[in-house]
Amino acid sequence: MSEYQEIDSCLRTRNGHLYIEECDTVELVKKFGTPLFVFSEKQLRQNVREFKAAFSQHWPDGQVEVLPAIKANWILAIRKILSQEGAGADIYSPGELHAALESDVDREMISVNGGGKEEDLIEKCINEGVRITVEDLEEPALINRVAGRLGKKAKIRFRVKPNFPDLYKPTDFAPEKVSIDVGIQVYKSGIPAQYLAELGKEVMAMPNIELTGLHFHAGRHHASLWYWQGLMKSYAALIADLAKAWGNWRPKEIDIGGGYAIYRDPHNKLGLRKDVIETWLSWPLLQLLRLLKPTPRYKLLGKIFHSFTKEPNRKMAPSIEQYAEAAAGTLHRELNRLGFDTSGITLQIEPGRCLYGNTGIHLTRVKKFKRQTEPMPWSWVLTDSSYFFMAGGVYEYQFNHFIFANRTDDPPTVFADIVGHSCYGDRMLPQVLVPEVKEGDLLALLDMGAYQEVSASNFNALPRPATVLVNGNEAEIIRRSETIAEVFARDIIPERLKGNPLSV
Ligand SMILES: Cc1ncc(COP(=O)(O)O)c(C=O)c1O
Repeated sequence: MSEYQEIDSCLRTRNGHLYIEECDTVELVKKFGTPLFVFSEKQLRQNVREFKAAFSQHWPDGQVEVLPAIKANWILAIRKILSQEGAGADIYSPGELHAALESDVDREMISVNGGGKEEDLIEKCINEGVRITVEDLEEPALINRVAGRLGKKAKIRFRVKPNFPDLYKPTDFAPEKVSIDVGIQVYKSGIPAQYLAELGKEVMAMPNIELTGLHFHAGRHHASLWYWQGLMKSYAALIADLAKAWGNWRPKEIDIGGGYAIYRDPHNKLGLRKDVIETWLSWPLLQLLRLLKPTPRYKLLGKIFHSFTKEPNRKMAPSIEQYAEAAAGTLHRELNRLGFDTSGITLQIEPGRCLYGNTGIHLTRVKKFKRQTEPMPWSWVLTDSSYFFMAGGVYEYQFNHFIFANRTDDPPTVFADIVGHSCYGDRMLPQVLVPEVKEGDLLALLDMGAYQEVSASNFNALPRPATVLVNGNEAEIIRRSETIAEVFARDIIPERLKGNPLSV
């Protein structure tokens, strides 16, 4: 655990227990129960400050604004802390805009993204004075019309899609081998570069629109620095070209989106590659082993699988400081090299996973340690959580670092699957080494602050867990757990189906 101490100021172990800030996780679950999401206020404030400071160092000619992607976490108390820290917000839906407005985000730093925006959303954006980040060719004309009707001027930026022919290494977003440039091209978002010069000219002639900047987001295709350098080189070239095409246009802001990996990087591409090797190797082996009788076959298989123990990624992602150099530094250098003057232009960044990730952990209680020795040896640590409470991570093959929070000093000795209690597969951490755990032990999954809590679903009619915010030695509920009644709150049984079934 010592490595976690170094990385996160909010997490550490003491006397065999995991602490988040000054709170013992064992005491937290006594008070709030399990499963439970727990966030550190200190870590959140620290992360947003670190992003701002690091990027400001490498963007010396203008302001840096941090617009955390609210999709990664829209818990209002979390959002309130970010607003207190002066952060803006990247928004993708009317619900997310509601969250941003409810939590007092500075309107000048709200970017409303997404294709196919409905007219009522556009109207709300104009009335609230937030930035509309345009994704569709037809959108500016609609915005201009609505703004005209309201007698206001809309502030828009184009979300652009440059070409990245040099980024030909495989993206982490696809289990198959797909190169990053192709991954970016087939993703729906962004206005293709071919239309931008013309569209800009049209927009500049629209009376009710101000084109304040450009926006680009590709996401975490890769954790490395060369990826960011490659992105920013092409983006800079496009910005410089467009500025020329639009008569030396100067934006107020340039937004470079998010996609910085969490330091412990739970994105499980490495594990996935291993899966492929295992599958390819194990299939012919399985066929060969069919020559054996079932008992020796399963015994041997058990041994083979145990030797494929999995573990979280040990290769740490670059630091925020390194990302800042690779992203802001490259963009700044490239733009200036191309003769584009960056002075006075604001740089906006939209970190999601890397800003929220290590601020949250998920605590779950061990319900059973189940074993079988025949025919194939296997063990399961059955917890009271579910894969469905962390669906965002499942979607990205996430494999989180974990620690048994009430026995942090116990060495891992047993091979087991850590599973949730929904019936559907639910292998939260397959084939890992765990200590000799027992009923009532407490498991902590780390780096659960982004995309996890907000993607929790109700499969098996499970009520979603509560969330607690820790500040020093204090802890408060910031999102209470659901009740079973709430799980069914949207259900309507038509009148004709009520009553005695025998009367049909
Ligand atoms: C427009 C935009 N900005 C920022 C982000 C945050 O990305 P990440 O969580 O990878 O940093 C996203 C996520 O999809 C996004 O769509």
